[in-house]
Amino acid sequence: MTALMLRKSLDEIASEDEGEHKLTKSLSAVSIVAMGIGAIIGAGIFVLTGTAAAKYAGPAIVLSFVLGGVACAFVGLCYAELAALIPVSGSSYTYTYATLGEFFAWVIGWDLVLEYAMGAATVSVGWSGYAVSLLGDVGLHLPPQFTNATGTAVKLADGGAATGIFNAPAALIVLVITFLLARGTRESARMNNIMVAVKLAVVLAFILIGAFYVDTSHWKPFIPENKGEFGEFGWSGVLRGAAVVFYAYIGFDAVSTTAQEAVKPQRDMPIGILGSLVICTILYILVAAVLTGIVPYGDLNVADPIAKGVDAIGLGWFATVIKLGALSGLTTVMLVLLYGQSRIFFTMAKDGLLPPVFSKIHKDYGTPYVSQILIGSIVALIAGVLPISILGEMVSIGTLFAFILVCGAVIYLRRSEARAHRPFKVPAVPVVPILGVLFCLTLMAGLPLDTWLRLIIWMAIGFAIYFGYGRRHSVVQIRAGSA
Ligand code: ALA
Repeated sequence: MTALMLRKSLDEIASEDEGEHKLTKSLSAVSIVAMGIGAIIGAGIFVLTGTAAAKYAGPAIVLSFVLGGVACAFVGLCYAELAALIPVSGSSYTYTYATLGEFFAWVIGWDLVLEYAMGAATVSVGWSGYAVSLLGDVGLHLPPQFTNATGTAVKLADGGAATGIFNAPAALIVLVITFLLARGTRESARMNNIMVAVKLAVVLAFILIGAFYVDTSHWKPFIPENKGEFGEFGWSGVLRGAAVVFYAYIGFDAVSTTAQEAVKPQRDMPIGILGSLVICTILYILVAAVLTGIVPYGDLNVADPIAKGVDAIGLGWFATVIKLGALSGLTTVMLVLLYGQSRIFFTMAKDGLLPPVFSKIHKDYGTPYVSQILIGSIVALIAGVLPISILGEMVSIGTLFAFILVCGAVIYLRRSEARAHRPFKVPAVPVVPILGVLFCLTLMAGLPLDTWLRLIIWMAIGFAIYFGYGRRHSVVQIRAGSA
């Protein structure tokens, strides 16, 4: 077991990143908050809110968002401490390598595939829903068999029924973004700010205009009675709803990657992480309240619930604006996730835990293009085949699991590296990280058994790869002579 616990020291990690490039400390707290919002607002609010309200929580989806927000606040504090303490590669994979050792680093790295790659697939299915709806508005009706996941029941234009074959728009958008990323196209800070502004404007407009059309009778009963099964309405439905819409908060952890560029990490990390979380939590609660106030929750199980809300109040032009805003917002989230996934595999391949092909850099574009293309092709396939509900739940469970390890890392490092300089400290350790763990576990408990089984199978595949390949090729193990 000791070999599995081999870890990298903080100094080792710091020296690995040295010389790559020295980043300037130029990001203000406001830019960091904007980046956070850019990475956070996406398919969660634009798509999953509808499904979660219709199937699990009803109008009480508002409470689900509160629960998800509180869980993320505890975890966000832990990320802020680690981001300021290890302000280098900035992913939870790196934190774990430094704390719990290689085996857990592999576990989290493998698990992060669920957050990033599956996350990108989820967003692309949301993108497809909005794109199909927008094309429909201009009279272009794609055959529903090719805009839905394999095997799902779809309604034809003539009222007949059919079965979904492949979600082509979802796969296509993943391939397009993959191509852009492999070519080295990155969203500049300016571009990101514009996209964030568009997203925010659309969300705010929905809240402000929609508020005038709320029919409070749609909120009664606020927590619909449980239907007899755990998770189908009632309080267990609020919990399951929270586990599903937790997906909407994912992305605040990406803020931690900016730690080394923050002007004052001590002040800017907590403001950036917690500030973007607070703003998104408030927006989500308001959107959820307005949406369930204008459309009976039972009608919200559609691919574009926010646009459906706007249609319901008879503002056709505004629905088009919402769809365009949603499409641009979803695109930026996909960019961040697919980019993040290739960089995590890049780092893991450099550590020897994955084959070197994943760290191969294109000589002209300077990107890990092989990794990017392999990931993009698999994500496109998954996006074409699986429905958003299964994907979203996998992402939620995978991310919650990663967050638990991050909370654990804070407690562990306080002991093992007690003297290290911590520009930002989580208050009341170990209470706050333990609360983070408990909230994440509670949300995980709200997810269906099938999703747990899928997580277990996914991790089992990961163990097989680690023991079959990673452990024997690990740079740290080889250096220590234990491979
Ligand atoms: N939070 C991101 C979204 O909702 C992943 O799309």
